[in-house]
Amino acid sequence: MSLDFSVTMAGLSFRTPLLTGSGTFGYGDEFLSVMDYAPLGGLVTKSISIRERKGNPPPRICETPGGGVINSIGLANPGVEAFIRTKAFILPVGLTRVFLSVFGETVEEFIGVISRLESVPGVDGYELNLSCPNVKSGGISLGGDSDAVIEIVRESRSITKRFIAVKLTPHHIAIAPLAEAAAKAGADALTLTNTLVAMMIDAETRKPMLGTVTGGYSGPPLKPVSLAKVWQASKAVDVPIWAGPEQAACSSAQCFSPIPMLPVESSARWRSTATGMASARSANSSARFDPPSCEEAFANPARRHLYGCGESDRLCREAPFERRAGISTDQ
Ligand SMILES: Cc1cc2nc3c(=O)[nH]c(=O)nc-3n(C[C@H](O)[C@H](O)[C@H](O)COP(=O)(O)O)c2cc1C
Repeated sequence: MSLDFSVTMAGLSFRTPLLTGSGTFGYGDEFLSVMDYAPLGGLVTKSISIRERKGNPPPRICETPGGGVINSIGLANPGVEAFIRTKAFILPVGLTRVFLSVFGETVEEFIGVISRLESVPGVDGYELNLSCPNVKSGGISLGGDSDAVIEIVRESRSITKRFIAVKLTPHHIAIAPLAEAAAKAGADALTLTNTLVAMMIDAETRKPMLGTVTGGYSGPPLKPVSLAKVWQASKAVDVPIWAGPEQAACSSAQCFSPIPMLPVESSARWRSTATGMASARSANSSARFDPPSCEEAFANPARRHLYGCGESDRLCREAPFERRAGISTDQ
């Protein structure tokens, strides 16, 4: 008996409701040799900006008690032009739905990136990552400002016919007005949520465990926070919500599993899919994690970006091993 997990959102059909979380699956090429793409409904790429970003100093990832991780990758990416030249052709177009995550510090930057990406064939849509600070209004995140949300989504809508998902941070107490703003301006879906600002200190060295001191918290401990946001937003809007039901657990071997972001307006069968993925991951969760050397990681392209060793990740290669030891993943 074959089960039908297909779903349709805004006229776009998905083989299953499983999507990868942005930044956890690269551009989709590196996993081709290690997993079957059949259960994937789609992938969301690492976020792309108008200019190249080198990312933050290492260590960029640390684990937290209870299975969470804090990352401070710093949205490292080659910039939109280099993405089009060197990455766009490796997207697994045709194998699964492909969504390009886009971010900027101003409305103009969002529009600049999307208008260039419109030339990339086979792309199904965009995920607008609204967690950057709004440089024009003193640093509040773009996604925390309803007017900015409306402007970015409306302008994006006016230049593309592709699917638009809007990703918000969990930082704002009142998520409903932001969700409403996104939906009103033309979002086809919401993604809830991005990471929560957090920090860890190494008890032995008494030093922060991340190069940037604070980073973005994700994984199972974030689940109740995200669920509350999903629930609040789902009461305010009708658009589907892409949500991480079990949250990312990139800290150990189960990182090979894509991180599911599930549409929430859902039936029991969607939830059972999530549970299946979650059980597979928890079965692995006691696996010991030994970060490889960058040389080892580079020798195996399929594992490379899991350990902070993306091709453009010069910092990782140059950092001494002990500083790299806390790095478990990268975009
Ligand atoms: C290593 C890493 C890199 C990430 N990079 C991005 C990114 O580039 N853009 C983005 O919108 N979210 C990024 N995220 C956030 C995830 O997509 C997801 O929203 C977050 O991890 C919370 O969900 P989770 O607890 O299910 O992982 C990143 C997360 C991790 C762990």
